[in-house]
Amino acid sequence: MPSTEFEQIVLAGADDHDLTKLSEYEKVGGYQSLRKALGMERQAVLDELITASVRGRGGAGFPSGRKASFVPKPEQTTKPIYLTINADESEPGTFKDREIMARVPHRLIEGALITAYTIGSNAVFIYIRGEYLTEYEIVKAALDEARDRGLVGANIAGSSWNCTIVLHRGAGAYICGEETALLESLEGKRGQPRSKPPFPAIAGLYAAPTLINNVETIATVPAVIARGGAWYATLGVENANGTRVFSLSGNVVNGGNYELPLGTSLREVIYDIGGGIPNGRTLKAIIPGGSSTPILRADQIDTALDYDSVAAGGSMLGSGGIIAIDDRACMVQVALRVASFYQHESCGKCTPCREGTRWLVSLITKIEAGQGSNADLDLLVDVCGRIMGRSLCPLGDAAAMPISSYVERFREEFQAHIDQGCCPYGDQSSLDGILGPVQQAARMHRQLAVIA
Ligand SMILES: Cc1cc2nc3c(=O)[nH]c(=O)nc-3n(C[C@H](O)[C@H](O)[C@H](O)COP(=O)(O)O)c2cc1C
Repeated sequence: MPSTEFEQIVLAGADDHDLTKLSEYEKVGGYQSLRKALGMERQAVLDELITASVRGRGGAGFPSGRKASFVPKPEQTTKPIYLTINADESEPGTFKDREIMARVPHRLIEGALITAYTIGSNAVFIYIRGEYLTEYEIVKAALDEARDRGLVGANIAGSSWNCTIVLHRGAGAYICGEETALLESLEGKRGQPRSKPPFPAIAGLYAAPTLINNVETIATVPAVIARGGAWYATLGVENANGTRVFSLSGNVVNGGNYELPLGTSLREVIYDIGGGIPNGRTLKAIIPGGSSTPILRADQIDTALDYDSVAAGGSMLGSGGIIAIDDRACMVQVALRVASFYQHESCGKCTPCREGTRWLVSLITKIEAGQGSNADLDLLVDVCGRIMGRSLCPLGDAAAMPISSYVERFREEFQAHIDQGCCPYGDQSSLDGILGPVQQAARMHRQLAVIA
């Protein structure tokens, strides 16, 4: 990742040191925050997290300190308390957790230990996407090294506190990133969402109180404890504190992960840092937060990347996966690619999502083939409306929201397919680099299914 003029929090030091090694991580202050936290009252650590107000980096953006405060205190429950870390990262366009695990695995482990200590947990589960084999091996080696040095296991860092960390590989299903499906999968069951309430904080893994956080959320914790929640809250903008590791992909010169302060504009990310659109093409659209987020038009390029600004622009910050789309792309083909992914990944448990995603694909396929009518386009919008807010988990919304936004913001392209009886872009349309992981992920899932 090219370094930027901004201070990094999560990936700090990774450009100059091999932070996969414990000794190198210690040179940049590694595990000092853990030692500091172990010398504090649990409530004092929690107060720092609440003050920092790191909004969850997995997609929903819920303040992580507040979420931790919902978990019953050890004295309020007879059950064990668990911390589960979501490393399933399957949202197309998002590949930041991969880089965090590959380059700063000890920051994740340190953040996990501090968070576990804060909520009174003695057991952490990291649920890692099955396809991330290299990252699994890196995190596993880091865990082994930390365990050998007395930083994981019994009497951590000379304290009387014990905590185990289990690294668990998924088997390649997008739905297992949804927190309750993840818990089912971790328990050895089919990965399908549970109905809520009860929420995991009250009845999660093995029906015990469970805190679930994203990799990046947890990897932020050591810096918050080292420098204080009030310091962290000065970074970024109001209601969106700190930095985020944005994944930039699609039709852009310098794709990659960039850790930037929240509030940085899309223009800065795509043009100043990303080097703009290659081959003299022009920007047509931007997906700001992973494939499940509504699309923005190119004239929204000055939108700031914080929760409120992106919401005001009609979309969501989501998982931080920014995808630039140039003028060669047929938006109906983009819609088909996205809808196909969600149809493939729908777990089938609830009808609106199972049937709705199938309808989306079939209607978009018809329109793309030039066989659609105005009634089909109306039906497409209608089906989106019938999925949104009606599925058991937000996977249904994740499918319907972007499709509905493509029609709303690029209706003229859908209309042209109907009026001309063919795809106006034909073979000239290029989705090169746009949502590539959609197909890649689907292909990998199929391979795993065959192996199983
Ligand atoms: C279908 C679906 C897939 C999801 N995939 C992920 C994922 O891969 N990684 C992740 O951290 N959160 C994912 N989430 C969000 C989680 O349910 C949960 O909100 C998140 O792990 C909480 O962590 P945070 O508060 O730190 O963001 C997904 C949600 C849905 C509905």
